[in-house]
Amino acid sequence: MVARKINITLDGYSACGKSTLAQALAKTLHYDYVDSGAMYRAMTLYALRNNFNEQNLHLLKSQLAHIKIECEYSEHGNITLLNDENVTDLIRTPAIQNLVSQVSTIPEVRRFLVLQQQSMALNGGVVMDGRDIGSKVLPKAELKIFMTADIEVRVERRLKELVDKGIIIDREEIKQNLSFRDHIDSTREDSPLLQTADAKVLDNSTMTPEAQLKVVLNWVNEVLNQSNRS
Ligand code: CDP
Repeated sequence: MVARKINITLDGYSACGKSTLAQALAKTLHYDYVDSGAMYRAMTLYALRNNFNEQNLHLLKSQLAHIKIECEYSEHGNITLLNDENVTDLIRTPAIQNLVSQVSTIPEVRRFLVLQQQSMALNGGVVMDGRDIGSKVLPKAELKIFMTADIEVRVERRLKELVDKGIIIDREEIKQNLSFRDHIDSTREDSPLLQTADAKVLDNSTMTPEAQLKVVLNWVNEVLNQSNRS
């Protein structure tokens, strides 16, 4: 019998380890991983390169016909393409993280990316992380997870991630950016970050990546066993 493939959503605050867990899950289950944040980051790179700023950002919607964003997943990592250019590393800079949450408030941009994200999950077998995945993109996903972690832990994790990439940045600047993005992401009008009633909460402040994976694999098994019984 071929095992049924479910969709798994991982939503939560910035830098709480969603992509680490999502990639480990996808690898273990042989599922695809979709990093929806990378798509908003690629959109932000397009905006910066085309001289958009906070003042004229609302005009970005007129450019959507010229923008193609694709995610390619392999077990060796995720690749993000902007108009066929590999921008995987270019979208992880402080300049992008300073503007991405404002770009993400534009309803037309969201509609454009959400349709694409939904089409990637049509056949199941997808782990997708972001802010509105369980609430808006894949509301029928079989397993929804809401991730959270202490702000100081998140700052340390993001600092290490950037330093590993050779980016020198002040700890305080990271903390401000994370708090600022948490605020915009949770309070925007269109598809804010929220914990849906059917989501399982994972606070990973003191958990190792291995421990997190174990907990979530148990949840996956519960879902699969339930559906086998029904
Ligand atoms: O890696 P980090 O958690 O810092 O952020 P990300 O997942 O790469 O997402 C970057 C930004 O994109 C977020 O702060 C949100 O503003 C936006 N985003 C969104 O609005 N909806 C999503 N589904 C994913 C990301």
